[in-house]
Amino acid sequence: MPIPRPLDGRVLLLTGAGGDIGRAMAAAFAFAGAKLAACDLDPDRAEVAAAIAREAGGEAIALALDVTRSESCAAAVKATVKAFGGLSVLVNNAAAFTVRGTVVDLPEEEWHRQMAVNLTGPFLMGKHAIPAIRDTGGGVVVNIASQLGHVGQEGLAAYAAGKAAIHNLTRVMAIDHAKDHIRVVSLSPGAIEGARVRSRFPDDEAMHAYNDRRHVLGRMGRPEEIASAALFLASDAASFMTGADLLVDGGYTAW
Ligand SMILES: NC(=O)c1ccc[n+]([C@@H]2O[C@H](COP(=O)([O-])OP(=O)(O)OC[C@H]3O[C@@H](n4cnc5c(N)ncnc54)[C@H](O)[C@@H]3O)[C@@H](O)[C@H]2O)c1
Repeated sequence: MPIPRPLDGRVLLLTGAGGDIGRAMAAAFAFAGAKLAACDLDPDRAEVAAAIAREAGGEAIALALDVTRSESCAAAVKATVKAFGGLSVLVNNAAAFTVRGTVVDLPEEEWHRQMAVNLTGPFLMGKHAIPAIRDTGGGVVVNIASQLGHVGQEGLAAYAAGKAAIHNLTRVMAIDHAKDHIRVVSLSPGAIEGARVRSRFPDDEAMHAYNDRRHVLGRMGRPEEIASAALFLASDAASFMTGADLLVDGGYTAW
């Protein structure tokens, strides 16, 4: 008899699936038995994530999704339910490219763009996904936040404020939807090796010189280390967790 896997029989919708952390999560969720809707603003990136999930032995579809548009969120939920017969887990992972700036010099449209993707996105996805999760008999919402939702960093007003808001949105969603048998949790990574952080530095050496020493463990994290934490939160191993944030930040916030 095959050994049961932690996400056997679960249907999972993942936003921002084509990014570094999204691709690692696609592999981990599929390996754990989930049927996956890999969603991204960029349809080619969604396809790559779905292919990674299939290589990991799972069933997966790729969907184009803009989390800032309510009708797009509704369509992605509908397509997922149609493909797999329900929805058990929503992972809100998409995030806008981070343009840095103080409140004085950050352009207003940049503030609104980051808030639209990073904060309004999880609101809109929750609006459309939670009824589907409820109809499936319950499940989990995992909101990917950041260690920078707990502490500040120069020039990150919009990003850090949006991620801090995710922590409290998570608590309120947990309170509101416990009666629907839905757990809502957030996950706060530290700085992870990948394109998002790399894009802010001239080269890898500069990226590590800035980031490594900010973590107690003396290094940046890897996408797989976030994926394994997300898998834990999405599974029944975390069945008594709701309204909580899981820091997976290499000790960034410990000092
Ligand atoms: N990388 C890090 O160091 C780090 C640290 C803390 C938190 N996080 C968080 O982890 C998550 C994933 O980070 P990552 O490094 O993989 O990011 P990434 O930039 O590599 O990927 C983000 C993905 O989101 C997609 N996206 C952007 N706008 C979208 C929209 N409107 N609708 C749907 N998809 C959209 C992009 O196309 C991209 O594929 C993000 O929420 C990020 O804030 C990352």
